[in-house]
Amino acid sequence: MPSSRATSASAGGKIILLGEHSVVYGHPALAGAIDKTVTACSTPIEGDSSLSVPAWDIEVSTRDEGAPAQALRALIEATGAQPTRLDVTADLPCAAGLGSSAALCLAVARCLAPGASDAEHRDIAGAGEAQFHHRPSGIDVALSQQGGIASYTVDGGLVPLDVPGLPLVVGLSGVCRSTATQVARVAARVADDGGLTSGRIKDMGGIVTAGIDALSSGDLDALGVCMSQCHRALRDIGVSIATLDAMVATAMEAGALGAKLTGAGGGGAIIALAPGREQQVCAALEEQDFQAFVTTLGANS
Ligand code: PMV
Repeated sequence: MPSSRATSASAGGKIILLGEHSVVYGHPALAGAIDKTVTACSTPIEGDSSLSVPAWDIEVSTRDEGAPAQALRALIEATGAQPTRLDVTADLPCAAGLGSSAALCLAVARCLAPGASDAEHRDIAGAGEAQFHHRPSGIDVALSQQGGIASYTVDGGLVPLDVPGLPLVVGLSGVCRSTATQVARVAARVADDGGLTSGRIKDMGGIVTAGIDALSSGDLDALGVCMSQCHRALRDIGVSIATLDAMVATAMEAGALGAKLTGAGGGGAIIALAPGREQQVCAALEEQDFQAFVTTLGANS
């Protein structure tokens, strides 16, 4: 008879300031944790394990098909947990490029294996995250775990940057998308277009390096320029959509120093750097019926 003791644990989302997609190809990314979180509560049950995330319309058991059910199976298997019901609350929007699947997997890993080390939690969460992503770089789980603002490479992991929290506007397009589809789309272009996409990915590597220097020296004007350059490169590799381009233009017209899509693209969110003008940028996006909020990059999870 399983014990009826419930355990709970949380993990936070992230924002990629620069370098999504190019990070998958070995280039650096610049990103930070945000204080929007996911909290998983586990109650031992008899029968099939289940996962319920009402805020994201997810309700699956280990018998179901699809990424959330596959992730649930992977997380249960990786932790060796007994059958359990996972009830998850979230103020982090899902499928918006803000690291929701990684935060979910890390919260569940922490909840199902409370005694495991950080490295074990990262591996467990990574096993779940791999069900959502095609070739995940690992940046989302690493940042959710470590918090702060950091540069990241697949080979070197996170390198924390000692910089103050950075207020950013986040605008939600309301268009859901799959990270796996977007990453696979870029991979197909890399394989097929005679080096055009690879070239732009390489350009992004340089933009990110310049952006890290700009942030480290407190040059927000230069950082904003890097963000806008990065958005153009992301558009060129095929992961923006007209709605995101229009949102970026709106943010710039409202006074942002730079704006771009964040995360895998194809929908999801934009971010804008607008020191002292955050509320104006939010209002401009809201006027066009997009949800927008201000968050601080670098909040700990
Ligand atoms: O959209 P998100 O939050 O899943 O971020 C994906 C970031 C990518 O660089 C596109 C993929 C990855 O695994 O790094």
